[in-house]
Amino acid sequence: MKTGQGKIAEILLDGSLRIECSADLIPTPGQYLLAHKPASDSPLPVSLFQMDFSPNGFRSAPPTPLDWKPGDVINLRGPLGHGFHIPPSAKKIALIALDESIARLYGLISSSLKQNREVVLVCDSTSQNLPEAVEVQPLQALSDILKWADYLAIDVSREVRRTFNNEPNLHSASATHPLNQLKEKFGEQQPAINKVEAQVLIHTPMPCGGIAECGVCALTLNHEWKMICKEGPVFNSLSLW
Ligand code: FES
Repeated sequence: MKTGQGKIAEILLDGSLRIECSADLIPTPGQYLLAHKPASDSPLPVSLFQMDFSPNGFRSAPPTPLDWKPGDVINLRGPLGHGFHIPPSAKKIALIALDESIARLYGLISSSLKQNREVVLVCDSTSQNLPEAVEVQPLQALSDILKWADYLAIDVSREVRRTFNNEPNLHSASATHPLNQLKEKFGEQQPAINKVEAQVLIHTPMPCGGIAECGVCALTLNHEWKMICKEGPVFNSLSLW
């Protein structure tokens, strides 16, 4: 893990950032950097996930803090956490975004295509600027995708879903735990997910990245407390059920 500085080179229309930084700070897909703008009104660092990279920096997934502007210098710490590892034998890759954004899975696309893997993106959000070789399917098509794929990368939020009034939806058991979201989406297909290699990125605010053991990112998995910032944010699916 390193500390250093990065410079915001560009803010793209989708809210992603181009950040110039040294190569040893660039996270792999699923890993993250903690980033903080000096003298910012917002005291807590934010997590940056990689969408793609170049020798002198990387593109980070949205959202971007509102007070960050092109030319700003930000403090960076990382790379942190466990990222995705696609098995060498996997040739049919399904990227499944259960949340509104595919951005945290995007970094897996170019490396998979370079290694002649087939890639299907499964999501209900609109996706722009995807390579032509990537097929897009709705979440409704999950059962077919599970029969086809030999590796799944899944993105899900830890957070409680909100009602239309932006109140936490605490009355729905399925809303309070990311595994319940997974079970709800996969339904009867859940046994199938255990037959292929699958990894799950659980995203949530991770303000200390494990250093202060603040507990903000804590989650119970198999009746044990896990710190998503250290033991994740990418988990092997078999460790989750
Ligand atoms: S973010 Fe503080 S313990 Fe995980």
